[in-house]
Amino acid sequence: MTNDATRSDQSRRIVLTGAAGGVGTMTRPLLEAFYPGLVLSDRVAPKDLRPGETFVKADLTKPDEIAAVVRGAHDVIHLGGHSVEGSWDQILNANIVGCYNLFEEARKAGVKRIVFASSNHAVGFYPRKRKIGTDVTVRPDSRYGVSKAFGEALGALYADKHGIAVTCLRIGNVGPKPIDLRRLSIWISPDDLVQLFRIGLEHPEVHFDILYGASDNAASWWDNSRAWQLGYRPTGRGEDYRAEAEAEQVKLAPDPVGDVFQGGAFASAEFTNDVERCGP
Ligand SMILES: NC(=O)c1ccc[n+]([C@@H]2O[C@H](COP(=O)([O-])OP(=O)(O)OC[C@H]3O[C@@H](n4cnc5c(N)ncnc54)[C@H](O)[C@@H]3O)[C@@H](O)[C@H]2O)c1
Repeated sequence: MTNDATRSDQSRRIVLTGAAGGVGTMTRPLLEAFYPGLVLSDRVAPKDLRPGETFVKADLTKPDEIAAVVRGAHDVIHLGGHSVEGSWDQILNANIVGCYNLFEEARKAGVKRIVFASSNHAVGFYPRKRKIGTDVTVRPDSRYGVSKAFGEALGALYADKHGIAVTCLRIGNVGPKPIDLRRLSIWISPDDLVQLFRIGLEHPEVHFDILYGASDNAASWWDNSRAWQLGYRPTGRGEDYRAEAEAEQVKLAPDPVGDVFQGGAFASAEFTNDVERCGP
């Protein structure tokens, strides 16, 4: 992210939900340099609270608890929720009711910016052979993917109706390196994800944007030009890990459905259709 797009005001209260989870744990040490004094929230306490961080326990399904978390906040990075496929009850509570509670309590508290952790699974039924931008119709591959499409729609509503600057990141897979062939196309390093968080928290042009949460992957299925326009300059390159990812891939069983679609195993789980009759 270029420096002219950066205007960190270190006194503002920034809330990170889902702080105890995998992505929160990987990104908090990196966020600290830009945003000391993050307010962390989750329904379980992070094991490694860092100096300067404060933790407020809250369940996303409880509006009064979320209200207490976002009170006085300027911005929210919303990572909290059920992060894989789950039962309808799990998805409904954590990702639909929970996401609504977060946006609504944030609106009431006067929050200015929200970065929402969406997912590639909102568009997981696009075939791998097709490159897609962020303007395609959603094609979720799971109940989880549907909940991320819901979160994106909710974000658009709160941006248009209430003027909150909302950035939805369709995150691929966060980690130190891509761990198989699919991840070579969708991997994002924690550093690059933090760049995208910063764009969402700082960039003056953001009103409502959907960006792909991916590093600079030559094998990418996504056109992420809007992110580049906003100053995103990823440093992670999936290709640097191709040999390792290919070596891991041969250990995996072929998946006749999942291997066709971007969502992989999320697309093949519970699948009862014919591959020729699904996807756009
Ligand atoms: N990890 C990835 O590669 C990836 C990829 C795409 C999208 N995402 C999204 O990014 C976000 C973070 O992912 P993660 O891998 O850290 O997931 P995670 O499961 O490790 O962490 C999610 C956190 O949310 C909390 N949570 C769940 N239900 C809650 C509730 N009702 N109230 C309060 N907190 C609740 C959990 O306690 C957990 O700490 C998720 O929204 C996920 O869907 C992650």
